[in-house]
Amino acid sequence: MSIPGPIGVFDSGLGGLSVLHEIRRTLPRAELIYCADHAFLPYGERPPAQVRARALAIGAAFRQAGACAIVIACNTATAAAAEALRARIALPIVGMEPAVKPATAATRAGVVGVLGTGGTLQSARFAALLERFAGNVRVVTRPAPELVAAVERGEAGAPVGAAVRPLVGAGADVIVLGCTHFPFLRAEIATAAGPDVRLIETGPAVARRLAALLPPGRARGAAGVRFWTTGDPALIRPALERLWGASAAVAPAPVASLEVE
Ligand code: DGL
Repeated sequence: MSIPGPIGVFDSGLGGLSVLHEIRRTLPRAELIYCADHAFLPYGERPPAQVRARALAIGAAFRQAGACAIVIACNTATAAAAEALRARIALPIVGMEPAVKPATAATRAGVVGVLGTGGTLQSARFAALLERFAGNVRVVTRPAPELVAAVERGEAGAPVGAAVRPLVGAGADVIVLGCTHFPFLRAEIATAAGPDVRLIETGPAVARRLAALLPPGRARGAAGVRFWTTGDPALIRPALERLWGASAAVAPAPVASLEVE
């Protein structure tokens, strides 16, 4: 049986497109809505309560659009809002967090680097993740809001050295891309880190988790993608199309613009 209903996917901006690519690969027939909350970018520099309010507003808009599931394609919003969203919205909700567990299993040097946003790296959820999985592995972190901004500007060859060098300098042989914007700078980060450093991202695992949560009928729909932004669609479209790799119509998001606390 085919049950209609799109899957709602959101991030502060274009970073979550790295997750959307994985979802499209895993569920090629699913109907998708991608919401970029550009009016509130960057989430990583905002108080968690504000990010939570945005996530709830976007979740309500997805529900209004008949969504059958929600993917928080953002580590920062997951840390701030996953529990609140699950408490308020009775749909399957898939969040994501930096891949500390596989990274600690993969390191030979006993040192793992994590690139993320300030919001993620300072969160209680991240502290709990380290508590649970870091064990004897040393985890060094680096907030890199400048890389989020570079991806949003659509800069190819963004300078990533200042973010990557401290991690490699500390001896990390595995670096976790703990923000969904960073896979778009994977080549630059790999070059800066050198051939002995492995990079780990979470997008493929999120897509697998989503597929496992959905009954097969829910993965079939119009197979299209609708793009929403809370910013200016015309301004955002060129960078969005470059990162998505196809032409795309971008519409104003029907999301309440909240007065934030
Ligand atoms: N892409 C987001 C993440 O995974 C957040 C970037 C930002 O808005 O600061 O954390």
